[in-house]
Amino acid sequence: MSSEFNYPTEIKGTRKLYSLLRGIKDPLKVISGNHKIAGDSYYLKATLMDKNFIFSQDKEFIEYILKQNHKNYSKSEIQSVTLAKYLGNGLLTNNGKDWLKQRRLIQSGFSKAKITNLISIMEEVTDHAFRSFKSDMEVDLYDVFHSLAFNIVAKTLFSSDIAEHEVKELSKIITEIQEVFAKEVRIPFSSEVLKFFGVIDKAITKSKRSKAIIQSVLDKRRSSGEQKNDLLDMLIQARYEDTQLPMSDEQLVDEMLILFIAGHETTANALSFIFFEISQNPEAEEKLKKEIAEESEMLFTSESLMKKSFTSNIIKEAMRLHSPAWAIDRQALEDDSFKHYS
Ligand code: HEM
Repeated sequence: MSSEFNYPTEIKGTRKLYSLLRGIKDPLKVISGNHKIAGDSYYLKATLMDKNFIFSQDKEFIEYILKQNHKNYSKSEIQSVTLAKYLGNGLLTNNGKDWLKQRRLIQSGFSKAKITNLISIMEEVTDHAFRSFKSDMEVDLYDVFHSLAFNIVAKTLFSSDIAEHEVKELSKIITEIQEVFAKEVRIPFSSEVLKFFGVIDKAITKSKRSKAIIQSVLDKRRSSGEQKNDLLDMLIQARYEDTQLPMSDEQLVDEMLILFIAGHETTANALSFIFFEISQNPEAEEKLKKEIAEESEMLFTSESLMKKSFTSNIIKEAMRLHSPAWAIDRQALEDDSFKHYS
């Protein structure tokens, strides 16, 4: 792409400088501010990196890129290179044919029936987490939900085959990797600096340790011959349509690590914002409590959890107000045009 193209309104001058500098610490504030100034789509040229960025919250534009002309867009280098060097090649980092092949294979594990099998694990982990709660206790919501979401992902993936200390070690490693990755993405040219000081190699060594933990759980499951009906069993038993072969261990471990990363932080963000919003709306809280009380012991059935209700409206509204995964990106493979942009 070059400047002869017709881009959305450009953010330039002091606002551009502010965006680049302030965006390191508070990207959401900067991007929202730029949208207020420039509208639903804006353009920013990162001159030093020789890259053209379009930021958009225009739903038609987003639908065009993710759906109507998705073949012309791949996951950006941020996911497929920067993140992939820590996580390997799984659904979140893969592109093209490899992605489609993995997606077809794994999708069936997330059917309604399979998820229903996991509800009792989720209920057990949640009960355990809240057993020590006292009603007048002051807590940091995010810490509570981060650890709850991580434990739920760990137990739905591995059932009881993963020890408490391994869950804690995985959580620590994943948090550390995410911190290094966030720096690489937000601070221009930081990758080179972090590489020079050995920070990236250290994070890669840690990611290898996390994969070794996952591999050891996989080995344990195989040698026990037990079936636990969890996500690990689903991934072990999955067969590619064309060859009827299973995934290699390397692929399986990468997919498991990616499910950890993709599954816990988003959910922790969502839960924190849902409970924050409830705490700000006493009337809604009362109505919610009443609806939950009416469900009584039927609360944790899949019918109850998936039906349209005031509770599910609260969840959706809180996620609309505070998107738990507030940005995704794509890279154009060929020049393209949408409405009056080209
Ligand atoms: C409130 C909770 C969640 C939110 C808001 C959320 C959001 C997202 C978004 C926006 C993407 C698209 C990323 C992109 O295409 O660039 C994504 C992808 C993905 N998410 Fe989630 N997610 C949530 C929960 C989960 C959970 C619980 C899991 C797994 C246990 C999970 C696993 C994945 C995977 C594997 C991908 C990659 C899918 C693919 O490219 O085929 N997510 N998620």
